[in-house]
Amino acid sequence: MRLDKLLSELKIGSRSRVKEEIRRGSVTVNGQKETDPGRKVDENNDVICVLGERVSYQRFYYYMLNKPAGVVSATSDQRERTVLDLVSAGDRRDDLFPVGRLDKDTEGLLLLTNDGELAHRLLAPRRHVDKTYYVRIAHELSEEEVSLLEHGVDIGEEKLTLPGKVERIAESEILLTIHEGRFHQVKRMLSAVGNEVLFLRRITFGGLVLDEKLAPGAYRELTEAEVEVLHEA
Ligand code: URA
Repeated sequence: MRLDKLLSELKIGSRSRVKEEIRRGSVTVNGQKETDPGRKVDENNDVICVLGERVSYQRFYYYMLNKPAGVVSATSDQRERTVLDLVSAGDRRDDLFPVGRLDKDTEGLLLLTNDGELAHRLLAPRRHVDKTYYVRIAHELSEEEVSLLEHGVDIGEEKLTLPGKVERIAESEILLTIHEGRFHQVKRMLSAVGNEVLFLRRITFGGLVLDEKLAPGAYRELTEAEVEVLHEA
């Protein structure tokens, strides 16, 4: 990769600022001053210092966002605020995107990354990872309705949903775990058994658990262990 590209990706500065610094002699590659911004470097092995400080290259970024209601799960939108608008300038990168979607009025765990391959694997229909939702519903579910949700329900598509798992928390609160990611799936599953979703928050995704310390709208980088969990999901 070009030295100036690497340094601007690392947010050392804009591409033009970085070129200027390189020409000025602020950058060394493997201990040698490098004044050519176009110098090809090996980002994984070369030792690159700016003003004597070593910079290290990170290819992939993974963030856990507690999505608030009112923002859309997209990278850009003409009218609406997007989940990427919640990322601070210091962390913003052109290649970040949300892995899958939560509805505008849904809160909770949304993964943001620039790792397209991992995202693709996590969303592949044949191995959709488990997702658990906290759901506030209009009225209590009967035993029969729970059983329907746990066997698969008709949401107006060719196939029934895969069996979900229901855990009752209170009269009108459940945890629902599903293994697919069909459009509005939770709302449509509850509607299929004559109920209505009043509030929805995703609390797990592919082995990741929403960090309780994250207020709606806040995010943090995943730990190495969490990234590992996702790769194994
Ligand atoms: N199911 C829904 O209905 N909405 C979401 O945002 C996620 C799952």
